[in-house]
Amino acid sequence: MSAIVANLFRTKSVQRLQEEAADNGMNRTLGALDLVLIGVGDIIGAGIFVITGRAAAEYAGPAVILSFLFASVACAFAGLCYAELAAMIPVSGSAYTYTYAAFGEIFGWIMGFDLILEYSVGSGLVAQGWSAYFLKFLNAAFGITLSPTWTSTPWNWSEKHGFVPGDGYINLPAFLIVLVVTIVLVVGVRQSSVFNHVACAIKLVVILTFLFATVGYIDSNNWTPFIPGPEGDRDYGFKGVLRASFSVFFSYIGFDARDMPIGILGSLAVCSTLYILVALFLTGIAPFKTLNNAAPLANAVSALGFRWLTVFVSLGALAGLTSVQVVAMMAQPRVFYSMSKDGLLPEAFSKIHPKFKTPYVPTIVTGTVVGLASAFVPMDVLNDMTSSGTLFAFAMVCLAVGVLRFTRPDVERPFKVPLGPIIIPGLGVATCLFLLVSGGITSIIRLFVWMAIGLVIYGTYGYHHSKLRNIEDSDSDGSSADSGKLPAEDGKKGDA
Ligand code: ALA
Repeated sequence: MSAIVANLFRTKSVQRLQEEAADNGMNRTLGALDLVLIGVGDIIGAGIFVITGRAAAEYAGPAVILSFLFASVACAFAGLCYAELAAMIPVSGSAYTYTYAAFGEIFGWIMGFDLILEYSVGSGLVAQGWSAYFLKFLNAAFGITLSPTWTSTPWNWSEKHGFVPGDGYINLPAFLIVLVVTIVLVVGVRQSSVFNHVACAIKLVVILTFLFATVGYIDSNNWTPFIPGPEGDRDYGFKGVLRASFSVFFSYIGFDARDMPIGILGSLAVCSTLYILVALFLTGIAPFKTLNNAAPLANAVSALGFRWLTVFVSLGALAGLTSVQVVAMMAQPRVFYSMSKDGLLPEAFSKIHPKFKTPYVPTIVTGTVVGLASAFVPMDVLNDMTSSGTLFAFAMVCLAVGVLRFTRPDVERPFKVPLGPIIIPGLGVATCLFLLVSGGITSIIRLFVWMAIGLVIYGTYGYHHSKLRNIEDSDSDGSSADSGKLPAEDGKKGDA
């Protein structure tokens, strides 16, 4: 019994992780501005182009600005914690790796499984947003309207009634964009800094154009009441503001995949400013109740009569959403790759394609999960599952910072969270858990069910195949492996 418990909580040594990091050829020569711009390019996506409108219409009204503010405060605490760990253990796999090092294997596994919510389920939502802007573009540019039968999910989600019948059979454009991105990733596109810079430039141009073009159309009546009172099925009020904060938390996903403190904190500051401005303008140019759709920026400018701007915003959003889709669908296979290298997933997950040199198995698995989610699962469900998974991951990472300061005080930390190991990590855990609870009981139940499924998979596979466990077992049989270390890994990390 005690051997099982020891296995579950066996941690991966920080030194080993640092050795792996030294091998993985990550580019550490980029300047501060580059790092911030790359972050901005990776982060801005469906959160601002899609979720803002729904969060305002369903929960917060114009006070969605406050929701962004709250979410950004939680992210700032978590961002500082990520910055400490990223500087200390700069390896791919991110939250999975940190948790494995701090709390042991079973928590590492839980985190790895949780990250599927952040990356794959989140990508499903991005694809649905892509689909909505694609339809808007076809309509504004060419007057073409596609039937909802093939462009909507078969179910919708209602907070009060649960799953209700949707308008279609499948969201085909969403499925197809996922298919295309998967093929491109398998065949092997490398995420170059040119790609990141172009993605960032497009997003900044679209957002700034939106702001400049609409500033003269803001009607301050649309901001009153700022926090609406209950109406029909909707609660609104301060509770709604917090509920919206949980939803828009999605917008901040991506900064955690950065590996340098300046990239994390700088991109967080730029994105927060842009998000709050867009939310302010969007709720200023349109009554918030009209924003309950998946392409709110394009629909709002279209309602003002700007055809050219509708086409422009739709095209910009399509480009921006595509880049976020690529980033998230590359991040997921990296986590699978790291887990496979640790023996927690089958070896196929770390096989590199002989011709394309890409981790094609985890990429195809990711594509399948994302494709199915985008085609069939209601957007609100994807949003809630992604937000809860991400908030949980961020809380664990904040906790890991505090724990590692006590368990591994000897390891060099090029960056440390200010004010010691308790205050910022503690505030990070508290704010993330508070937002998680604000998402409501259904989201929490879904998160627990997801974790339970994960634990069953761990119990039937990962526990028995863990390399850390097996090396230590053979160690106790008299072999010479160092305790707490993995055997030297061949090949490069999953930064394909
Ligand atoms: N932050 C990313 C987005 O908003 C995931 O699409």
